[in-house]
Amino acid sequence: MSIILIGGEKGGTGKTTLAVNLAAMRALQGRDVLVIDTDIQASASYWAQTRDETTVTPRVACIQKFGKGLPTEVRDLARRYQDLIIDAGGRDSPELRSALLIAERVYIPIQPSQFDIWTLGRMDDLVTNAQVFNLNLHAWVVISRASTNPSVSEVAEAQSLLADFAHLRLAHAVIRDRIAYRKAARDGLSVEELKPGDPKAGEEIRAFFQEVFNE
Ligand SMILES: Nc1ncnc2c1ncn2[C@@H]1O[C@H](COP(=O)(O)OP(=O)(O)OP(=O)(O)O)[C@@H](O)[C@H]1O
Ligand SMILES: [Mg+2]
Repeated sequence: MSIILIGGEKGGTGKTTLAVNLAAMRALQGRDVLVIDTDIQASASYWAQTRDETTVTPRVACIQKFGKGLPTEVRDLARRYQDLIIDAGGRDSPELRSALLIAERVYIPIQPSQFDIWTLGRMDDLVTNAQVFNLNLHAWVVISRASTNPSVSEVAEAQSLLADFAHLRLAHAVIRDRIAYRKAARDGLSVEELKPGDPKAGEEIRAFFQEVFNE
């Protein structure tokens, strides 16, 4: 059983993209996975709906949940599914705060251009506050939508900034900006299922997947 939260206060960093890719890959392993969409924009729900309208299997279950009652509902759902993946919208919200109270792992995608003390400081505060009540919570920042022009300096910059924050670690996997993610999302797929596929996207999403699920 795992409860994974993809969250953060910045919009458009790839939260939903990562959430649905993880969910589809978990489902492909035969796991009973549920995506909990807490974003009023409902992008994850649209993705799941699009997937349902295709012949792709397995299907990925997705429900929408809003408001502060999330922890209670998540505890209940945790009895019925093997994995829960919560997609929180790109702002500080009751959903993000309450999801931090129930998640075991939170991944905060950040675009390299957005590495700033303010963003990370706010997230570090939210995580620190949540950890008072949720001792199981661990938090990682994941570099997302990075340039495909491989640059070690982005990673190094992120690492040096993160050194200032007590409760945030940097995920090893780096997700780069690739058309495959957009194409796959449009068709209700993970990048792994896209045909023709993008081997580099596949490689990095698998690396992230393995990190998240400790495999
Ligand atoms: N690694 C990537 N490569 C290319 N495009 C990406 C990548 N990640 C996300 N995108 C695209 O960027 C846009 C925003 O992505 P996404 O919806 O996943 O972000 P988000 O953090 O969930 O946004 P919001 O804060 O609005 O919920 C989408 O059009 C998506 O297809
Ligand atoms: Mg989103």
